[in-house]
Amino acid sequence: MEFDKASAQFVYEAQDLNGTEKLAAFLANKAEPGTVIALDGDLGAGKTAFAQLFAKHLNVKDTVNSPTFTLIKEYEGRLPFYHMDVYRLSQAEADELGLDEYFYGHGVTLVEWASLIEDILPPEILHIYVETVTENKRRMTLIGRGKRYEQWTKILKENGV
Ligand SMILES: Nc1ncnc2c1ncn2[C@@H]1O[C@H](COP(=O)(O)OP(=O)(O)O)[C@@H](O)[C@H]1O
Ligand SMILES: [Mg+2]
Repeated sequence: MEFDKASAQFVYEAQDLNGTEKLAAFLANKAEPGTVIALDGDLGAGKTAFAQLFAKHLNVKDTVNSPTFTLIKEYEGRLPFYHMDVYRLSQAEADELGLDEYFYGHGVTLVEWASLIEDILPPEILHIYVETVTENKRRMTLIGRGKRYEQWTKILKENGV
């Protein structure tokens, strides 16, 4: 499969929240209309923390809260920012919500627990798997699916965060 190419994968070790912020800033600066970032990882891994830092660097001024109960929240930054948490959503429910409007819209979408709606994610996404290593250390595995995102992981591999 194309996304198994070595260049499409980048493993990043964030030593602490500042390390997570560096990666979030890099990606927020790269974001374009239609950018979709899928986040997966256990409860407390740091998906929402990453989203908050990403939003900060996208120049979102409002407070970004976990959208666990609202499913989708929209914010205004350099680009519109759509923050989703699909933990409580079945694939069928997600189908009905018409998430493509967000995915292919003018803004940037970040999806927590994205694997739960794998079948309806766009084919081209940046997938980030977050793992807890210690209290503050996180391992983030980035997989670029599609040319645009493969390019990002390639830059990260070559230059670091
Ligand atoms: N390097 C790090 N990256 C992300 N979160 C971290 C890091 N170090 C500590 N944390 C803490 O871990 C917790 C992650 O919680 P949260 O982002 O809500 O997780 P999730 O959304 O994945 O369930 C937060 O309290 C955050 O401050
Ligand atoms: Mg969360």
